[in-house]
Amino acid sequence: MQPTSEQRNIEFEIILKDTNLSLQVDTSLIEQVLINIILNAIEALKDTIQPKVILLAEESENNKVLIKIADNGIGIPSEQMDKIFIPFFTSRKNGTGIGLSLCKQIMTMHKGVIRVQSTEGKGTIFTLQFN
Ligand SMILES: Nc1ncnc2c1ncn2[C@@H]1O[C@H](COP(=O)(O)OP(=O)(O)O)[C@@H](O)[C@H]1O
Ligand SMILES: [Mg+2]
Repeated sequence: MQPTSEQRNIEFEIILKDTNLSLQVDTSLIEQVLINIILNAIEALKDTIQPKVILLAEESENNKVLIKIADNGIGIPSEQMDKIFIPFFTSRKNGTGIGLSLCKQIMTMHKGVIRVQSTEGKGTIFTLQFN
C-alpha cells in the first residue's frame, strides 16, 4: 500500500510501545483484515487535507492484545454504524461491501472482536481485540 499512500501524501504512523507483544493468529488472514481496513481508511481520506493513518498495537488493562487502525477521514454517519459489517453494505459507487463482513468473520474465527468508533467529518477508529 506504500505506493498509493505516498502518491496521496498519506502520513502513516506506527505506534508500538511494547515490543514484546505477541499474538497467535493465522497471519495471512489477519493480514487480509488489516489490508481491508487500511484500504477503507485510504478511501475515507480522499478529501482530507492532512490525511493520516495511525496503526497501534497495545495490551488492554484486562490483558488482551488490541490493534487499532485510525484515520482522520470522512467518518461514518451514525445511522450507518450498525450496517457496515453486514455483507454487501457499501456507501461507495464501486464498493462491494465485502471487506468488513470478511474482517468480522475472520475475527470471529480467532475468537476476537472488531469494533468501530467514528465521528462524521473527523475520522474513524477500528479496534481488533484478540482474546
Ligand atoms: N475508515 C472508514 N471511514 C469511513 N467509512 C468507512 C470506513 N471503513 C468502512 N467504511 C464504511 O463501511 C462501508 C463498508 O466497507 P467494506 O465492507 O469494506 O465495503 P466497501 O469498501 O466495498 O464499501 C464502506 O462503504 C463505508 O461506507
Ligand atoms: Mg472495503
